[in-house]
Amino acid sequence: MTIYTHKWKAHDTIYIQNPAGSVKVCVWPGTEPVAYLYDLIVFPPYRWNGFGDKLLNEAIKQAKEAGCAVIVLWPECEPWVEDWYQRKGFAPNEFYKGFAGEIGWAKKI
Ligand SMILES: CC(C)(COP(=O)(O)OP(=O)(O)OC[C@H]1O[C@@H](n2cnc3c(N)ncnc32)[C@H](O)[C@@H]1OP(=O)(O)O)[C@@H](O)C(=O)NCCC(=O)NCCS
Repeated sequence: MTIYTHKWKAHDTIYIQNPAGSVKVCVWPGTEPVAYLYDLIVFPPYRWNGFGDKLLNEAIKQAKEAGCAVIVLWPECEPWVEDWYQRKGFAPNEFYKGFAGEIGWAKKI
């Protein structure tokens, strides 16, 4: 697993990658830092082997280590992936809205 943190002015972005895929976590600081998960992808030949689970767990671990108590994502995917996230403990939460008002899915970590 390769992990690289790029420090931006307002937030840090953690890039997590293994040969099967990658994911990005943006950490927004503040009194209650929040982590946003983006672009989780496992390349097609590697799917169904637990790599998605491993990348997601590493993203959660990194978010925790960065001081976040919650991780949020916007599922832009097929319906079964929403079920997958639900099985991992994510649920829609109206507190977290995207730029166009889309409801985020949050998990306490
Ligand atoms: C979603 C994704 C990351 C899962 O990665 P993966 O490595 O195949 O997942 P895992 O092997 O860890 O887990 C397999 C699980 O997915 C389910 N699954 C996989 N493909 C499925 C399909 N086509 N239909 C229904 N369920 C499916 C399996 O039932 C299994 O469930 P379980 O963990 O409860 O047993 C991967 O399919 C992907 O990259 N999809 C395209 C990009 C995407 O949609 N990303 C999410 C953006 S929000």
